[in-house]
Formats: sequence, C-alpha cells, structure tokens
Amino acid sequence: MSNETGNTEKPWGGRFTEATDAFVEQFTASVEFDQRLYYHDIQGSIAHATMLAKVGVLTDQERDQIIDGLHAVRADIEAGEFEWSVTLEDVHMNIEAKLTERIGLTGKKLHTGRSRNDQVATDIRLYLRDEIDVIAEEITRLQNGMATLALREADTIMPGFTHLQTAQPVTFGHHILAWNEMLQRDFERLADCRKRVNIMPLGAAALAGTTYPIDRDMTADLLGFDRPSYNSLDSVSDRDFAIEFCAFASLVMTHLSRCSEELILWASAQFDFIDLPDRFCTGSSIMPQKKNPDVPELVRGKSGRVTGHLISLLMLMKSQPLAYNKDNQEDKEPLFDVIDTLKGCLKAYGDMVPAIEVKAANMRGAALKGFSTATDLADYLVVKGVAFRDAHEVVGKAVGYGIQEGKDLSEMSLQELQQFSPVIGDDVFDVLTLEGSVNARDHLGGTAPAQVRSAAERVLQGLASR
Ligand code: ARG
Repeated sequence: MSNETGNTEKPWGGRFTEATDAFVEQFTASVEFDQRLYYHDIQGSIAHATMLAKVGVLTDQERDQIIDGLHAVRADIEAGEFEWSVTLEDVHMNIEAKLTERIGLTGKKLHTGRSRNDQVATDIRLYLRDEIDVIAEEITRLQNGMATLALREADTIMPGFTHLQTAQPVTFGHHILAWNEMLQRDFERLADCRKRVNIMPLGAAALAGTTYPIDRDMTADLLGFDRPSYNSLDSVSDRDFAIEFCAFASLVMTHLSRCSEELILWASAQFDFIDLPDRFCTGSSIMPQKKNPDVPELVRGKSGRVTGHLISLLMLMKSQPLAYNKDNQEDKEPLFDVIDTLKGCLKAYGDMVPAIEVKAANMRGAALKGFSTATDLADYLVVKGVAFRDAHEVVGKAVGYGIQEGKDLSEMSLQELQQFSPVIGDDVFDVLTLEGSVNARDHLGGTAPAQVRSAAERVLQGLASR
C-alpha cells in the first residue's frame, strides 16, 4: 500500500508511516557484505519454488517463471550488471526485488511460506558447505606436500628440542610428520563440523514454521542437505555451526602459526636449517643482505585475527534470546574473513612446504652439539645393568666434563668415558652416533628413518583414498 510518507520501497514497508532515517538505512543494511551469498540465495530460492509448486502453492508455470527469472538475475550478477541497493537492505531483498522487476507479480509469490530468517540461515549453510569442501581439498594438498617432504627427508637428522634446548636427535621427516598429524586432526574436525552444517533450516519461516503445506524433505533433498532441522526456533537463531567452523579454523591457524614459528627460526642465520625459495620471501628496503620469511610471518600474524573472529562470534551469540535477532547479521563478516584468511594461508602453505630447501649438513652439525645422545648413553648403561637413576647421574657427569673440555660425548675416547663408569665398553660408540640414536627408536610413532618412511607412505595412501 503506498502513501505519501510511507516506506513504500521496502518489502516490509506496509505498516510504516515515515521513511527510514538515512543513517539507519546504512547502519542496518548488510548488502555490502552479504551479496557474496547471492549464488546460494538463488540456489535456495530455486529449491523453495520447486517445492512450492509440488505442494500446489505455486502453479508449474509460476515456478518456471520464477526459476527462469532467478537464473537471469544470477547471470546479471555474474556479468557485473546488477546494481545492489542499500535501500533494499540485504542480498535477499535485492534479489527478490530484481526478480519481480523482471517477471512481474509472480516474483512476489516466491517468498510464500518462508522468511528471511530461515532464508539467511539456509544461505550461510549452503555457502559454508561449499567453502568447507574447498578447504578440505586445500588441507589435503598441504598434507600431501608434508608427507612427500617427510618421505624425501626420512634420513635427515636434526636436533629435536624440548624447551627449545637440544634434547635428542630426530629425523627431519619425523618432525614434518608431526605437523601432518595436526593437520590430519584438523581435517577430521572439519569433516565432523560439516555434518552439523549440512542440516536445512528452511521451513522454519520467521520462527514458528508456516501454515502452508510445505515438504521440507523435498527441499532438503533438492539442496543436498542431510535432513531438515527439527526445531523452527533453533533453526533461525542457531549459529553454532559457524562458531564450530571458526573454532576449527582457529586450530588450523594455531597449527600453521606453530609451523611458521619453526620455519622462521630455521631460516635464520643462527639456525640455518632451511632455505625458503626467494618467491616466498621479500627483502628490506634498507638492509641489502636481508631475505625475510614474510609468508610464515604473515600466517603467524593472521592466526590472531582468525581466533579473534571466533571470540567475536561466541560473544555475538551468548546473550541472544530465542529466536532470530538482528544481532545475527553480525555473523557474516567474521565468518567470511575467517574463510578468506584460512584459504589464503592454506594456499600459501600448500605452495611453500614442498619447496622448503633442507640444509642437511647444518642440521646434522647442530645435532652433534648439545649432547643430544646423552639419553642414549644412559639407556646403554641401563642395558649393562646400571639402574636408570644412577645412569642419569653418570651421564650428567660426563656431560659436565664435555662442557669443560668442549667435546661431545661421541668425541670422547673410551678411556675418557670409562672415568665415569667402568661398564662402558667399545660398543658405546654405536649408540653415541646420531644414526645409532635415531635408528634405535624403531617402533610405531618413533623417529627411526624406517618408521618415518612407512608412516609417510601410510599418510600418502590415506590421502589418495580420501
Ligand atoms: N540480513 C539479515 C541477516 O543477515 C537477514 C535476516 C533479516 N531478518 C529480519 N527479520 N530482519 O541476518
């Protein structure tokens, strides 16, 4: 109904007697950021119209008109010929208005039996589901890179650290497979999250359901959802699926941030364990010698941003009464930014990890420092009948001597070693070498090159059958 002062341009303007304040219009609009849901909004509308025709709410002719119109609107958007209007608030009303402009009155029938509340909840789920599938592929690609690198470097020895102090020798392949385990759990979390994303809210309408004889199973089927949701109030208000996704993403970013920290350390002149190809680095405008590991640094930095968005969404939800509240419009920007940021970081890592250049001699040299085989000497004494606590004491003394003399355990003569325990024999040198040390840890999950090779192969096989 139009009147001089009313809000006639708005689909909901009927009961209003004055126009929306210009600032409020801007303030409440979401079209600037939710237009990225256009594809899934149209996908949802096509399924809704198809269902409405099946149950007799629309005629077949009306359905076809609507679907053709929606396809045309989609083509306009994709051709960059769609003018988004802030007056029309959001992606949903923009598309519906354009549909009606194109096909006339029938366009106004599309919204029968639904509300923007169940519509937007459906759109986000459809959109997120597609992004989840892309992200799952990116994780798989990265894991492939990691496992391939691990296989290549199964024999490369480096110092393993605790407290960032040299602890025991490990193989570089083993270290990279530790990264892969983190990503593997992330992948499984994502697959689990997808199950809860893939539930259809459509049919909940504004909050209580609808009086039309809708067939929700049919719409769910058409849209590839596992099933319709079970409670209309929950359907329009719940965003925990998005929170769960952001929690997953925060963990991935936390993992990538840890990897980044290591890459940055390893690429430093002090560690000098790896080289990152120039294409992943930048220089300094003042210090000509610099080659900075920007990609890992940025990934480490972006992890804070993603976790920040997770907290935003948790705070967004925590005080909302049932059912839909406009607060929920604030779910989109954090969610979208998490998706974009995560995809960018996974892409960078997927490209960079296989290109890591390993400086095996430097890693080996570092493992030879810091008494990394001290535990092996203790274990050796235990085998010779010394109690572990006593063995620990003996080796501690030997290390003290080594520090004083500037010698690693493997560099001491038999006589020197025998000062600390008479049970030490010639065979001690088998365990004091780096190879002896890593080869001895030859069990499932251990760092022995043979174990690393079979672990990497198992990972690659698993990835191939995903
Ligand atoms: N733009 C809104 C959102 O993002 C769509 C739903 C609006 N519903 C409403 N009753 N105002 O949540």
